[in-house]
Amino acid sequence: MTDHDQLAQTRARTLTDDRWTVGVIGLGYVGLPMAATAAARGLDVVGFDVDATRVAALNEGRSHVGDVTDAELAATLDSGACFTTEEGQLSAADALVIAVPSPLGRNRQPDMAYIEAAADTVARVVRPGMLVSLESTTYPGTTEDYLVPAIEKAGLALDTDVWVSFSPERVDPGNVKKTADIPKVLGGVTPSSTVVAEAAYRRLVDNVHVVSSARAAELTKLLENTYRAVNIAMVNELAQIAEVFDIDIWEVIDAAATKPFGFQPFYPGPGVGGHCIPLDPQFLAWRAREAKVPTRFIDLAEDVNLHMPEYVVERIIEVLNDRERPVKNTRILGLGIAYKANIADDRESPAMDVLTRLAARGADLGVLDPHVPTERITARGLTPVEPDADLSGWTMALVLTDHAAVDYAAVADQVEVVFDTRGIYRRLGIERDNVVAL
Ligand SMILES: NC(=O)c1ccc[n+]([C@@H]2O[C@H](COP(=O)([O-])OP(=O)(O)OC[C@H]3O[C@@H](n4cnc5c(N)ncnc54)[C@H](O)[C@@H]3O)[C@@H](O)[C@H]2O)c1
Repeated sequence: MTDHDQLAQTRARTLTDDRWTVGVIGLGYVGLPMAATAAARGLDVVGFDVDATRVAALNEGRSHVGDVTDAELAATLDSGACFTTEEGQLSAADALVIAVPSPLGRNRQPDMAYIEAAADTVARVVRPGMLVSLESTTYPGTTEDYLVPAIEKAGLALDTDVWVSFSPERVDPGNVKKTADIPKVLGGVTPSSTVVAEAAYRRLVDNVHVVSSARAAELTKLLENTYRAVNIAMVNELAQIAEVFDIDIWEVIDAAATKPFGFQPFYPGPGVGGHCIPLDPQFLAWRAREAKVPTRFIDLAEDVNLHMPEYVVERIIEVLNDRERPVKNTRILGLGIAYKANIADDRESPAMDVLTRLAARGADLGVLDPHVPTERITARGLTPVEPDADLSGWTMALVLTDHAAVDYAAVADQVEVVFDTRGIYRRLGIERDNVVAL
């Protein structure tokens, strides 16, 4: 056994047996649930964020993340967890978990500014004995490229003083499965880092799956979301083919899904949204392009998915045309602008793309979304409509997001026609002559 092995095993033992402190960098959709999970599992927590308003709200017990209730936040605060804008407080941590944004830049290249800033924080607060684990989705090689230099900048040595790993976050906003219930993949930048990271994460989640390197863990996350992007694109393409042949794609998917093996249903829609499925494959594509490796599946999937809002608008024009109505000045009520069902997050939502295109054609638009706050709808230049409003003045209801909290039967009864991009009427078994599905 080498010295490094021995050091790692000693550290792993203390992380397994003792009460220790998790430092979370970035308290958003990923970081806050992680902080709450750590507190619920009896660990001490220091949560650091650069957003002072967010930190103040958290310390007052107000959660901005749907998956962490105010009651869970209260329990987290009661456990002694502290939320702060002072990065120096992170130096008390035994493990730093980084969950800062990793968006794409203007030309859809990775914007590494947040990870770079977090790495600078690590360089200033890292202490001997710490594990540093990146959870932000990113291209393979990031953890080695950004975090190992950060600890070296602090004058500390990998595997002697500090261990470094990557563990992708798989939290699914709006899903009942919580951070602690979702199996966690992890890989260290060295075998010793893997040993220490595994011990730490076993205190946080029930199920840990170890891979041989941080790079493998980074690519695992990209595989998961590229798989979704590609399959959604495939079914979006199939929906367009089925329409030409007058076949109901929803019926076909339900039929194929009766096969007990070898088929997983994906459903068409107005495009892909959120900050994972449309973005994550691009991290891989960017890295692959650098290495001159083609990424045909990723490129094709992006192309098909990005064109779905345009296709949806073409279909809406046809549906209205059949009723001798132009788009211009027709009252169209968008149902749901969140990027997926039952959440309040409207970032990167394809619904906005569809509505923007309809607005450009002069449609008279409104938006009913029981989850997205009305001020956000107004800020987007759209007219919010209350869930219990009389809808009889609307010509078309356009289902863009299949929130459960909408009375779809009542909607169909009040408007002239429904265009359903999510197949929700079929799923709920609501049969109306005035409903047209994508
Ligand atoms: N939201 C999801 O469903 C989800 C799921 C899996 C993975 N991810 C990935 O997790 C990462 C975080 O995503 P998110 O949705 O939690 O983002 P978010 O925008 O909700 O939260 C990020 C937080 O980090 C803070 N922050 C930014 N720069 C910082 C810095 N230098 N130091 C400290 N705090 C900083 C922001 O103020 C914000 O509060 C991203 O890489 C994302 O791709 C997100």
